[in-house]
Amino acid sequence: MEAKKCVLAVLALLVIVVEVNGGGDDQASSVKPLVKIVKGKKLCDKGWECKGLSAYCCNETISDYFQTYQFENLFSKRNTPVAHAVGFWDYNSFITAAALYQPHGFGTTGGKLMGQKEVAAFLGHVGSKTSCGYGVATGGPLAWGLCYNKEMSPSKLYCDDYYKYTYPCTPGVSYHGRGALPIYWNYNYGKTGEALKIDLLNHPEYIENNATLAFEAAIWRWMTPEKKNQPSAHDVFVGNWKPTKNDTLSKRVPGFGTTMNVLYGDQVCGKGDDESMNNIVSHYLYYLDLMGVGREEAGPHEVLSCAEQVSFNQAAPSSSSSSS
Ligand SMILES: *[C@@H]1O[C@H](CO)[C@@H](O)[C@H](O)[C@H]1NC(C)=O
Ligand SMILES: *[C@@H]1O[C@H](CO)[C@@H](O)[C@H](O)[C@H]1NC(C)=O
Ligand SMILES: *[C@@H]1O[C@H](CO)[C@@H](O)[C@H](O)[C@H]1NC(C)=O
Repeated sequence: MEAKKCVLAVLALLVIVVEVNGGGDDQASSVKPLVKIVKGKKLCDKGWECKGLSAYCCNETISDYFQTYQFENLFSKRNTPVAHAVGFWDYNSFITAAALYQPHGFGTTGGKLMGQKEVAAFLGHVGSKTSCGYGVATGGPLAWGLCYNKEMSPSKLYCDDYYKYTYPCTPGVSYHGRGALPIYWNYNYGKTGEALKIDLLNHPEYIENNATLAFEAAIWRWMTPEKKNQPSAHDVFVGNWKPTKNDTLSKRVPGFGTTMNVLYGDQVCGKGDDESMNNIVSHYLYYLDLMGVGREEAGPHEVLSCAEQVSFNQAAPSSSSSSS
């Protein structure tokens, strides 16, 4: 009994636990957070969607400001008969996947408006990469995001022998594009699998069989720098990243444009008025409108574009550029 009391006393000294009933909270959150003050910092836990004590979980979570009907609006054509992944993608798989990254700031950094913008930006990338919309498509070319969950007629296996010791290709397995931000090549399946603790090198098909996993892989990519000392797409978007002198000279500024540089480098950036770049930007702006944020919140053209930017990563070691 005495020992127990002592332990409790020590715990109480280390951490002052404050259970709030939400009365003093200014946020219209559906879930009442468990709040703790640790060393003067407010940390929260909101259960399944934002678990573990994190400052980010004190803010509104994605399901507070982005609901099923909005997901349906954004991806309104994905289950039409001509789509190529009918019945695959849904709101729940997105939210379930996002839950893993919300305690790290995905959709929860900087307040509700920044959260909405980040979700629109991330999904803008996703919509553009998974679209089967074209100029005369019904509903317009931007209504066709999440039409695919994989590359339909791959012309090769995307096995890069340069990585035969680190990420060896499994015989008979094809590493063609799959997912929400499609993964190509053995080494990319290998790295993603390591991060998610799923054997994607042997089973890349898991990505096209499981929408939650597909979104998890995409959000992981969004949240993770390609290389050490580089920012993630998330960092450049929410303002965590401070450009160096070199970045400034390379026209890399915080904002949406640079997310394209992080994710695709010189495949879409530094090429002037590039069509694939404009397509990604158009999806982002369209989603901002549909989410009720409005495209005027996206900021000026310089921030949206990467037309003049020098790529973070110049030509990779081997023929490792992904293409769809
Ligand atoms: C939470 O949101 C507020 C604005 O409502 C913002 O100032 C703060 O930075 C956010 N917290 C984190 C950890 O991003
Ligand atoms: C899909 O992937 C998620 C995340 O890895 C996992 O929790 C879930 O069990 C998987 N679903 C199926 C049906 O395998
Ligand atoms: C800046 O860019 C130059 C030329 O590309 C490079 O040699 C130098 O290492 C870079 N400096 C930093 C701090 O990245």
